[in-house]
Amino acid sequence: MSALPLNADSTEITVTHPWDGRVVGTAPIPSPDEVAKAVGAAWEARSTVAALPAHVRAEALGHVSRRLAERSEEIARLITGENGKPLMWSRAEVARAVSVFRLAAEEARRFDGRLQRLDTDPAGEGRIALVRRAPRGPVLAITPFNFPLNLVAHKVAPAIAVGAPVIVKPAPATPLTALLLGEILAETDLPTGSVAVLPLPNERAEALVDDPRLPVVSFTGGPVGWAIRERVPRKHVTLELGGNAAVVVLRDADLERAAERVALFSNYQAGQSCIGVQRVYVEDAVYDAFAPRVVEAVGRLVTGDPWQDATQVGPLVDEAAARRVSEWVDEAVAAGATLLAGGRRDGASYQPTVLADVPDDARVVTEEVFGPVLVLRRVADVDEAFARVNAGRFGLQAGVFTRDLQVAFRAQRELEVGGVVIGDVPSYRADQMPYGGVKESGTGREGVRSAMEDLTEERVMVLTGVAL
Ligand code: SIN
Repeated sequence: MSALPLNADSTEITVTHPWDGRVVGTAPIPSPDEVAKAVGAAWEARSTVAALPAHVRAEALGHVSRRLAERSEEIARLITGENGKPLMWSRAEVARAVSVFRLAAEEARRFDGRLQRLDTDPAGEGRIALVRRAPRGPVLAITPFNFPLNLVAHKVAPAIAVGAPVIVKPAPATPLTALLLGEILAETDLPTGSVAVLPLPNERAEALVDDPRLPVVSFTGGPVGWAIRERVPRKHVTLELGGNAAVVVLRDADLERAAERVALFSNYQAGQSCIGVQRVYVEDAVYDAFAPRVVEAVGRLVTGDPWQDATQVGPLVDEAAARRVSEWVDEAVAAGATLLAGGRRDGASYQPTVLADVPDDARVVTEEVFGPVLVLRRVADVDEAFARVNAGRFGLQAGVFTRDLQVAFRAQRELEVGGVVIGDVPSYRADQMPYGGVKESGTGREGVRSAMEDLTEERVMVLTGVAL
């Protein structure tokens, strides 16, 4: 386990390391009074925070970016400690969070309104509208374990940029990095109530979700997100809920590169990314050349101790997660799938695994595996490939290995996903890009600028008696 079990009387979360079970640290669980105080402070601060000049918000965000950069190795080690992801991915995550806060500082300075003329009809003569975006109000940010820093950054930085107080409830498995980010935020001049990090057990999140003083809920995690939306239909709820990301490899692809990328990005973070490669649809003409290449590339991945610089694939977040992955793979094999690589568990670790001939209704195809497993499938052509990508319940991102521009535009047009990556895996994400899903993958968009729009709504002011 990466966090020891909690009960109603627990006063702290004990975080353990997924690789060897040692205690990494503890996080005191805030009392109900402390939670009430934090929410009250966010509510009280909302007008002050919304009125902060852009340069003050930008300076605070810039400070956080610089401090994350200065402390990057320490923070990367903390992420590896609590999450178990290999250092190479923790370092990449810190570098991304540095960018997220820097981008938010830049956007905070750019975020302005527009003038709209109203004299388009006689009734509007002498009037003009100024349209600006106002924060919807304090934000409840519920964040997952798989990116303990950067997925917190993606909620906190845009909130600060638009002037919205934010309460963070990090995943119980990985609260320590969020708390450290909270310490860095406390070094800024942001007013009291701007940001609070509350490491609460999941059962105590409901009270926060229900609290009318937190009118915005931004959630990243599993399907429970839909229950949140149904619970508070009058709130503004943004959901990023993952998927079973697909890759299409077509006959004109660079097979060597496609195989390397697919192998690495179905296994990075032990597959625990919402956009990790899971389903791979390969055009018949190149399937027999591609399949052995990908199996070989998977076999070359460096697995094991997450503290080694060279390690690419470490443990999952806990043994229960690895057991579930193992059960799903065994189930697929029992139903007729062929195991081309991997398929073995050792504690919280699961070997990088490649499956072929998998029945369409196997859970490794239809559900989000969130583990180091990829499923290869031969398809007749691009039509079948795109139909299969769209066949699932999810739609976050998809990758298409092709050099044909017409196919690229067709992919953007036809694939039912939030983002299409041409010439690479769906796991590619630039932090300034809009990011989010369709269908059961969620609703709303993150990515710094998109999140700033999501956390605000248009407010119009009409000026009357203006000579234009
Ligand atoms: C996610 O797993 O939802 C985020 C992936 C990323 O930010 O790279």
